[in-house]
Amino acid sequence: MIEIKNLTKVYKLTKKQMAEQKTKRNIKKAADNISLSAKKGEIYGLLGPNGAGKTTVLRCVATLLNPTTGEITVCGCDTVKEPKKVRESISFLTNEIKLDPQFSPKYMFNFFGRLHGMDDKTIDERRELLFNYFGIQDFRDKKINELSTGMKQKASIAVSLVHDPEVVIFDEPTNGLDIVTARSVTDYLKLLKEEGKAVIVSTHIMSEAEKLCDRIGIIINGRKVMDGTLSEILKETGTEDLEDAFFELYKEYSKEEA
Ligand SMILES: Nc1ncnc2c1ncn2[C@@H]1O[C@H](COP(=O)(O)OP(=O)(O)O)[C@@H](O)[C@H]1O
Ligand SMILES: [Mg+2]
Repeated sequence: MIEIKNLTKVYKLTKKQMAEQKTKRNIKKAADNISLSAKKGEIYGLLGPNGAGKTTVLRCVATLLNPTTGEITVCGCDTVKEPKKVRESISFLTNEIKLDPQFSPKYMFNFFGRLHGMDDKTIDERRELLFNYFGIQDFRDKKINELSTGMKQKASIAVSLVHDPEVVIFDEPTNGLDIVTARSVTDYLKLLKEEGKAVIVSTHIMSEAEKLCDRIGIIINGRKVMDGTLSEILKETGTEDLEDAFFELYKEYSKEEA
């Protein structure tokens, strides 16, 4: 479903970015030869600290960035050669894409539904389903800029799923949510997996990766340093929980310059 082969993404840095990132080099290798796959009916988790390269990888999968080298296919379509086809089959959620502040969740939902070529009846049905599930009905007609962080995040998630896509790409989906709302989001991801969708999420929360993901890829300094099921990772690192496993790998790989 999602196949990433030898993905490398190099950013050119401005002087300001060089200063911010405390580096003398004017390039940053944010993803370094990453290969991984997420299949139908599976949740794959990218786990790594801030700046590890998770968002970069997911933006490449979602066709918002082109890889510097390497290839990505989504449902058999190449993200660079057939970006339109890829976009039809994916839902992409990121903290960087904001809903338009003066519109309401309902308006945005309908707007994106039409953008995906859906008819009004199908849009209404999807909206009822998702707005009920995420508890959006009470504030569906309020302006986005009047909503709390949690409400906005729920609305973004519902809007991103309007077209019932085969592939779901969620970048830190529970960021800024209270535990109840966060749980409803991770439960929904499990539901999508049971429906046979391929799901890829990023997180820096160990317990979330542990509980939610069928397979986990640990990303440090742009490199995938290990992946597998939780038990495979624990076995390989000789540890008893994911946090210990992560720190074992972090000790080993964090000093290497990407
Ligand atoms: N547009 C950009 N230009 C330059 N550097 C970037 C850009 N986006 C991200 N980076 C850098 O690339 C690295 C990986 O970032 P990112 O993919 O956002 O990591 P994560 O999502 O794991 O926190 C970081 O060092 C970040 O500062
Ligand atoms: Mg990120």
